[in-house]
Amino acid sequence: RTLRIGLIPGDGIGREVIPAGRKVLESLPSSLNLKFSFVDLDAGFGTFQKTGTALPDKTVDTLKKECDGALFGAVSSPSTKVAGYSSPIVALRKKLDLYANVRPVRTTVGSSRGNPIDLVTVRENTEDLYVKEERTIEGPDGKVAEAIKRISERASFRIATIAGEIALSRQAIRDAAPGTSTRTQPMVTITHKSNVLSQTDGLFRETARKALSAEKFSSIHVEEQIVDSMVYKLFRQPEYYDVIVAPNLYGDILSDGAAALVGSLGLVPSANVGDNFAIGEPCHGSAPDIEGLGISNPIATFRSVALMLEFLGEANAAAKIYTAVDGNLDDGKFLTPDMGGKATTQQVLDDVLKRL
Ligand code: NAI
Ligand code: MG
Repeated sequence: RTLRIGLIPGDGIGREVIPAGRKVLESLPSSLNLKFSFVDLDAGFGTFQKTGTALPDKTVDTLKKECDGALFGAVSSPSTKVAGYSSPIVALRKKLDLYANVRPVRTTVGSSRGNPIDLVTVRENTEDLYVKEERTIEGPDGKVAEAIKRISERASFRIATIAGEIALSRQAIRDAAPGTSTRTQPMVTITHKSNVLSQTDGLFRETARKALSAEKFSSIHVEEQIVDSMVYKLFRQPEYYDVIVAPNLYGDILSDGAAALVGSLGLVPSANVGDNFAIGEPCHGSAPDIEGLGISNPIATFRSVALMLEFLGEANAAAKIYTAVDGNLDDGKFLTPDMGGKATTQQVLDDVLKRL
């Protein structure tokens, strides 16, 4: 099988880590019978400054017509509002209907501070307050600003469904490697605030419950957690969680919080997933403070490459990458400065390629 992958480095260290991610794909063992072809695509603030648009039509068209998946580096956002600029990754999620943002967070031996953490947040990606329908009204007592929080049955149903599917596949991986985890049953935690927002979050909660009550999910233990107590428990007892499903805003916050549990942002991957497409994207930004120094941590990108492959149906190839990355981290000889080491991006890449 040959997969065609769009490469969108974007800005800053995106241009350092995405080429390293490509090398990992090119170096997968030939026994997997998996080949790749690549197409370089533009997006980001640099592209905006050159062309007046952060997401050229050509990028979207090529992804839609030619590609099976993509890797996205990072984009810089100007700190003050620039007329005409808006985030290309947000637009891309919309245009390709990538409705789920999936972020696994896992402790490795080297970074462990207690019980191992192995959880994934599954964040709804298309609605909630992020529909950006805001307005400001000039009232007698000054301005009043409001925003629409939109929750639909359709979006809530499909995000809970994919969370259920992820929970089952995680359990299948655990079952295939006995002794690696004490968890015997998959669990999905539905996060909401329906005690206050009974209609919007109420609909999310009720619909997610309905989706997860399907026969195919009968092995899953389904729980709920009000979002504020979720934050508390996530920080007190992160090892308790398996799959967390949440509407857009809570998911955004929870997934960044969960990333903090394992140390460097340079380790945490994500995938933007739709029914027919997946984009792997490291969680970090363009890191202007280290841009060009050759020391950006490529691990988040390598794991994003693996995550993309999982959603493209190539779990075996993904597993090879996870194993190589874990080997690099556990060994600890080649770590970038964000991990307390002295290695360059290239040295980490070389070490991971050797392990592959
Ligand atoms: P950032 O993630 O770029 O950097 C935060 C800190 O973590 C910095 O000290 C950076 O050096 C370090 N860091 C991040 N990734 C690293 C890696 N792979 N290896 C080693 N160290 C790493 O977040 P920040 O500084 O808040 O934002 C910088 C720019 O990135 C802004 O323009 C922001 O808008 C954008 N950004 C873009 C995101 C995206 O493309 N999805 C996400 C977050 C921020
Ligand atoms: Mg975020």
